Amino acid sequence: MGDLAYFMDKLKREVLSQRVRQVKPSGIRKFFDIINTMPNVISLGVGEPDFVTPDHIRQAGIRSIREGRTRYSSNYGLLELREEIAKCLEKRYGLKYDPLKQILVTVGVSEGVDLAMRTLIDPGDEVISPDPGYVAYEADIIFSGGIPVPVPTYAQYDFGVRAEDISSLITPRTKLILIGNPNNPTGAVVSPGELEGIAKLAVEHDLIVVVDEVYSHLVYDTEHVCIATMPGMQDRTILLDGFSKAYAMTGWRVGYVAAPAGILEAMLKVHQYSIMCAGTAAQEAALEALRYGEADVQMMHDEYARRRHMFVEGLNRIGLPCCEPSGAFYAFPYVGKTGMSDEEFAEKLLFEEEVAVVPGSSFGAAGAGYLRAAYCTAYNQLEEALVRIERFLKKYYQ
Ligand SMILES: Cc1ncc(COP(=O)(O)O)c(C=O)c1O
Repeated sequence: MGDLAYFMDKLKREVLSQRVRQVKPSGIRKFFDIINTMPNVISLGVGEPDFVTPDHIRQAGIRSIREGRTRYSSNYGLLELREEIAKCLEKRYGLKYDPLKQILVTVGVSEGVDLAMRTLIDPGDEVISPDPGYVAYEADIIFSGGIPVPVPTYAQYDFGVRAEDISSLITPRTKLILIGNPNNPTGAVVSPGELEGIAKLAVEHDLIVVVDEVYSHLVYDTEHVCIATMPGMQDRTILLDGFSKAYAMTGWRVGYVAAPAGILEAMLKVHQYSIMCAGTAAQEAALEALRYGEADVQMMHDEYARRRHMFVEGLNRIGLPCCEPSGAFYAFPYVGKTGMSDEEFAEKLLFEEEVAVVPGSSFGAAGAGYLRAAYCTAYNQLEEALVRIERFLKKYYQ
């Protein structure tokens, strides 16, 4: 064996940690790499707003840099931003958080999920999380030495996670329940009744709930309910939210954690040694977003709602059954009836009709047979995507 081949083999076997080796590379990445080489592709693959960050928010970031505020902020994040976050949580949920001890500004909700796992998990601890679910959850659990315990969700319940299903998976090793509400990739919103059931389980079994609410502003036809508002839950909920989706600020990288002081203090320890603080200009932009961005959020929300209605109806009309998701900006149609696996369907659709979607199985075993199609793409592009998908289906199926 040549030196390089020997080294690469050794790398895989011994140099990389077992935890890193255990995590598969993201199935989504593979598609993005191909998409980037295809100029006429309609991408429903990326879960990212097609809007540019509203101008007044961009200006706040520019102002921060122009006026020379180029230093670290407090490890917790800018106090003014934490105060505004506390105000916003009180206004939205009636929950009081102390901005000095219970709020931490993070580098996106991504960092919040990672921090929560690294702060709370010991090797062998089990974390129950819905399947299909956001790809980073399983990876972050494994990186922290935990054991992911997927709780399947079903199309017949609009993919909403059910307390009854969680209950059957609780063991003495269960440490956390981690849910996305609304969920990626299904757009499912957990109903208030199920949230209440999950809250009761958490109290009964003394569990912490980590709730990722990065899509909490993108909820349609129903009110968003935060699990921390359920009896006894504020003291055992790690609430994660951020600016990426609602304010079209994915590239700014700002999110936050609101949690009981004892837990937040421990999360701060991990954050200060690994990250130090979120970018200062980005935090100032986030402050502007919270103070003056409500109308922008509403405008984008309404546009997603309009697209969702047309797109989901269109998928059902052309023969791909799809429930109407209550949140986020994803449709999750079933393609199993075509006789193709979700991966085969997605790959053929990309190469033959230049429409990019993500196979549902990339988000967990229960996603097999489904596709994630993000409708955060222009209305006319979505219409054209439906034309192409229909043509594809006629060729193979009807
Ligand atoms: C459920 C969920 N959580 C978190 C994130 C990452 O959010 P952020 O940009 O705030 O890190 C995403 C991004 O797609 C997501 O879908």
